[in-house]
Amino acid sequence: MKTYSGAPYAVATHSALQRRLLRNASFPARAPQQDALHMTPVPMVPEVHLFLAEDSVLLWARLEAEAGTPLPAPYWATAWPGGQALARYVLDNPEIVAGRRVLDLASGSGLVAIAAAQAGAAEVTAADTDAYAIAAIQANANANGEQIATVVEDLTGGDGSDFEVILAGDCLYNADVAALMLPFIGRAMNRGATVLLGDPGRGYAPPGLLRTLTTYQEAVLGAQEDGQRNETSVLTPVAVALTS
Ligand SMILES: C[S@@+](CC[C@H](N)C(=O)[O-])C[C@H]1O[C@@H](n2cnc3c(N)ncnc32)[C@H](O)[C@@H]1O
Repeated sequence: MKTYSGAPYAVATHSALQRRLLRNASFPARAPQQDALHMTPVPMVPEVHLFLAEDSVLLWARLEAEAGTPLPAPYWATAWPGGQALARYVLDNPEIVAGRRVLDLASGSGLVAIAAAQAGAAEVTAADTDAYAIAAIQANANANGEQIATVVEDLTGGDGSDFEVILAGDCLYNADVAALMLPFIGRAMNRGATVLLGDPGRGYAPPGLLRTLTTYQEAVLGAQEDGQRNETSVLTPVAVALTS
């Protein structure tokens, strides 16, 4: 198990955004500072440590106050149940990614990307539309000693270009985002990519179009609104009907 005493991450980080994110981060966790990030092992994936929020609403308020502008919710400061399931599955089945070019779509904290790198992927790219997520992914990759390329772009209009494996943890979290993700997943599958989703059953995974590979029963650390959610699955598309 890696230890995280000291602050080796500080010398390895670059952007002003990362410095803003990490300014109040504690490493290892110290006395409660509820609007801060804490380096935390991920419950279902203790191989990975992430900068996570103690209270993401308070963190969000602080970041908005510092930025002086409204910001998207800091989804990157939570290890979502779908991402935890998918990262666990990839680490337990490394042949899925080993030696392959992997895209972690809707990467958030970078959890799934880091797991793919640990499992032996040839190259890992993490994509998210939130620039704060990109800063967090880079900080988390550094802290875990992994190299992850990052893209701050919505890639859902395409088919995943030449990525051989596409992973997406908790990408079906509302109707609007699911409406972008599902056609993308279908196009990627149809050109031959391996596509895996992690999903805790939020109601946006169309029955019959996604097959369950495994389900974990865990008391996971999720978003505050996930409350007692304790089941999370890994899914793969099965039908060309996903394509539009
Ligand atoms: C619920 S979080 C999941 C994060 C991570 N995969 C996990 O499981 O912990 C969803 C993420 O999707 C990102 N997102 C939303 N729409 C997106 C899009 N069109 N392309 C890429 N990322 C997107 C959000 O910014 C957010 O970071």
